[in-house]
Amino acid sequence: MTDVMSIVGARPQFVKAAVVSRALRRIGIRETLIHTGQHYDAGMSAVFFEEMGIPEPDVNLGVGSGSHAYQTGEIMVRLEEQLMSRPNPDCVLVFGDTNSTLAAAVTARKLHIPVAHVEAGLRSFNQRMPEELNRIVTDRLSDWLFCPTETACENLQNEGITNGIHLTGDVMLDATLHFADRARKPAQDFPDRSYVVATVHRAENTDDPKRLGGIMTALGALQVPVLFPAHPRTMERLKGFALPDNIFLVQPLSYLEMLYVVKRALRVITDSGGLQKEALWLGTPCITLRDETEWIETLEGGWNVLAGADPDRITAAMRRDPGSPIPSIGRVDGNSASDRIASILLSN
Ligand code: UD1
Repeated sequence: MTDVMSIVGARPQFVKAAVVSRALRRIGIRETLIHTGQHYDAGMSAVFFEEMGIPEPDVNLGVGSGSHAYQTGEIMVRLEEQLMSRPNPDCVLVFGDTNSTLAAAVTARKLHIPVAHVEAGLRSFNQRMPEELNRIVTDRLSDWLFCPTETACENLQNEGITNGIHLTGDVMLDATLHFADRARKPAQDFPDRSYVVATVHRAENTDDPKRLGGIMTALGALQVPVLFPAHPRTMERLKGFALPDNIFLVQPLSYLEMLYVVKRALRVITDSGGLQKEALWLGTPCITLRDETEWIETLEGGWNVLAGADPDRITAAMRRDPGSPIPSIGRVDGNSASDRIASILLSN
């Protein structure tokens, strides 16, 4: 194929698209890039396009925020208009597990356009997470399933999916490797290994005052400064909180700034999926504010510890040093994941 339409909408998808877009264009595939507008603040969207050199989207659907049904439905309606107003692409390429991913996969397949899914096969086995539902449906509908890990391939096989599975490696690893030496120091900075980087954005943590309270108590009890770049929703929920003095709440950091602070931190404490892996790739142990992870390989040797939102578990995890070596995750020998994806698409 030579004509691909990529759909992005939320922060982690910009990171993935940055490397995949480059690989597609380098190999001679024509790419139409559609931004759903799910994330729209400059710090959540534009800064990624600028600093990672992502091509300007051909169209921005401007969907913005809303309930899951509103956001998903509105993306479907607006994307369908786009798809029907132009010749069909050879495939629609979707990334990860957001509402933009689900909406695009359903819309494309209803128009009989093949779908390729980057980051297929991830499972938390927790269907209370909207992302888990988005993954299951998207994988069911996808013709090409690009898996970052062996575990992801096995998850698909266990669900009876046998066709179109490709172990490609992780495109987020490509991004970390490509951009690592361009890491940029943010305005708020601390000496190396003297601080923690924390992020919290999942609804299960931000929208439950008991969980958010537990996390903030644990962070406040740490003996080190905590750099806390907050997602807009988290910022909103923290408005009523009396923040402990060691917590430095800042606006979301850019990708290059995150690379800088994560590489130098003592620990990363997060409920993000991507950050769990980025921490390890950059040599920093991680504590995950959830009870399960899709990236089970990260748990080996205690490099990533599941702590829920429980202050005691978080404090205990801070005290434990991981063994060596750092677990390998998302690496497949040979080409980068994004080059592998581009050549599979080109040859189909
Ligand atoms: C989405 C993804 C999640 C991903 C995350 C990365 C889904 C279901 N979830 O979650 O998998 O890990 O992106 O950040 O798609 N908001 C702003 N400005 C923005 C974007 C969001 O203020 O630019 C606020 C709005 O109040 C909005 C809320 O954040 O209602 C949540 O945004 P939304 O896109 O619904 O989901 P995320 O929590 O960001």
